Parts: sequence; structure tokens; C-alpha cells
Amino acid sequence: MGGGPKQRRQTPLIVFCSRTDNTRRVAEAMAAPLKAELVAVDQLKDHQLRGRPLIGMGSGVYWLRLAPQIISLAARMPARARAFIFSTSGWGHSWGNFYRSDLEKKLQRRGVEIVDRWHGRGQDRNPLFKWMGISKGRPNDDDIRSAREFAQGLKRRF
Ligand SMILES: Cc1cc2nc3c(=O)[nH]c(=O)nc-3n(C[C@H](O)[C@H](O)[C@H](O)COP(=O)(O)O)c2cc1C
Repeated sequence: MGGGPKQRRQTPLIVFCSRTDNTRRVAEAMAAPLKAELVAVDQLKDHQLRGRPLIGMGSGVYWLRLAPQIISLAARMPARARAFIFSTSGWGHSWGNFYRSDLEKKLQRRGVEIVDRWHGRGQDRNPLFKWMGISKGRPNDDDIRSAREFAQGLKRRF
């Protein structure tokens, strides 16, 4: 689905990077209440970013950072865009701020307004660590519900 400029003015966009599917599942849960268009970052064309009321940017955490493709998306964002950021990681919530900080700084420098953030756990399928069972079974039903409620909250605000 591409949509012309008129349709983009009403339709939020969610761009995500997900290597092992956890963040994609969260992105889908958020897209439903927002009626957002969902695009994997590698498929995204710059024109799809233009004229959106709201843009979600989501990524798994890989080696202590969000995916480089999501971080470099900051430079492609229209100035004065309104964005929300979400992420999933093997380790817990307290790390969320740290993982996001790189992207947040770049967005702020570009004049993008960050309206909200969501962070949840995702089962670590990294071949080096998967034997440890970090965040096994996550995102679970509660995580998906939390993602949906987060998006419902955004829907009410924007
Ligand atoms: C290559 C790789 C590196 C990872 N590095 C980290 C890390 O540094 N910190 C962490 O908390 N989780 C780490 N994880 C776990 C992922 O952040 C977690 O499983 C996340 O939900 C993956 O999202 P995705 O399924 O959308 O790719 C790593 C996973 C992979 C596959």
C-alpha cells in the first residue's frame, strides 16, 4: 500500500526493523488501533515518510543498540515530524532509555518531536545467548496487550 499525499495526511506510518520477529509482532499490535501503514525499514521509500500525522519507529536491540537502519532513519525524517519510538530487547526495561538515546538525540537535532516511547522484552535468539533462555516466550500476551494499549493512547492524543 502506497497511498497518495491525501491518504498519507491521515494515515500514521510505522517503520520497524526486526531480525527475529519480536518487534514485528509488537509493531503489528500497535498498527491495528492506529490504522497505521506498516513498513519494514529495508522496504521504506523516502516519499512514504512525507505528510504523516505520526511516525512510529521500532527496532530490536542488537549488541547494545537499536538497528543502524532505524538510527539512520532519523536523517531521513521530515523536519517537524511527530514520532514515537519502540523497542524490544532481551534484557529488561531499565535498559530502554539507554538503548534509545542515540536515536533520540539524532531526532531531536533534526527537530522531530518525540511524543512517546515503549519498550518491552523479546526472546533473545542470538545464537550465542539463546541457550540462556533470556526473556523466553516474550513478547507474551501481556506485552502485546501493552503495545496495543500504548497505541490506543496515541490514537486518542493524535
Ligand atoms: C544479534 C543479536 C544481538 C542482541 N543483542 C542484545 C543486547 O545487546 N541487549 C539485549 O538486551 N538484547 C539483545 N538481543 C536480544 C534482542 O534485543 C531481542 O531478542 C529483541 O526482541 C529482538 O528483536 P527482533 O526479534 O525484532 O529482532 C540480541 C539479539 C540478537 C539476535
